[in-house]
Amino acid sequence: MGALDKNQVDTVRTIAALREKVAEWRRAGETVALVPTMGALHEGHVSLMRSGQDSADRLVVSIFVNPTQFGAGEDLDAYPRTEAADLEKLAAVGADLAYCPGVSEIYSDGFATRINVEGLEDELCGASRVGHFSGVATIVAKLLLQAMPDVAVFGEKDYQQLLIIRRMVRDLDIPVEILSGATVREADGLALSSRNAYLTPEERNIAPLLHKIMLEMADALMRGDDAADVVAAARQKLEKAGFAIDYLELRDGGTLAPVTGKITGVARIFAAVRLGKTRLIDNIAIKGR
Ligand code: PAJ
Repeated sequence: MGALDKNQVDTVRTIAALREKVAEWRRAGETVALVPTMGALHEGHVSLMRSGQDSADRLVVSIFVNPTQFGAGEDLDAYPRTEAADLEKLAAVGADLAYCPGVSEIYSDGFATRINVEGLEDELCGASRVGHFSGVATIVAKLLLQAMPDVAVFGEKDYQQLLIIRRMVRDLDIPVEILSGATVREADGLALSSRNAYLTPEERNIAPLLHKIMLEMADALMRGDDAADVVAAARQKLEKAGFAIDYLELRDGGTLAPVTGKITGVARIFAAVRLGKTRLIDNIAIKGR
């Protein structure tokens, strides 16, 4: 090990080089965790990396801004790309390998296969971002087949994505254990997101109200208030604060089926809002009585 090795993470950009590294570890009897990301890494990503490290001998982090999960008019070109800083973070975390393929390594000429997780992909974010989850399922399937990890870790911040990936892995018999990590937040409650970088200082002050209003909803629902009334009151508060609401809904955390009336079991509040040009999402669990 050279002196530089401590401060740098081993980086590969091809499927062949990734597989070679993983094969080396396999020959030594080591297990492998994968954390897929689109870069612009923050503490939310880091928390998933730590759980990957806790559950396998080796940690691979992929960084790939996946064009097929962005719709026309979405922020593919503007999406923050901060590879040098990301690689420094991976070195500090002690990741064993960064996998940073280019678009042509992932999507060869004539690429024609898409994975659709029917039903789940049409709900919530899928309704306003048509094709988004098919792009996500396809890239995640590819990354899993490329790295063949024992475990892969995803965040509850993107809860619908997590459900879709779990369903796909079960349906396609992909031999990997999917782990999830709780949402990491700023001190004021705002869920960490690479897209928070788009917020103006004024928007950044308003943004934490989303989570605050969701917590108030949770209180009211847990007190036994009717779901429709709680959602209507929260929508008013959000709009008054300056958010444009994409959706604000109460759903079952396993099936995403709508939950109505007085909440007796467990459910989840899901929200997607726009603040200026930035789309924010959040979700929290609630337990009725
Ligand atoms: P990205 O948005 O970079 O997120 C990578 C992983 O980090 C996802 O599993 C996401 O849920 C998790 N994550 C994001 N913010 C988090 C937070 N505040 N707390 C905890 N975990 C958080 O999600 C994607 O990329 C892509 O869709 C991907 C799965 C990589 C496929 O392209």
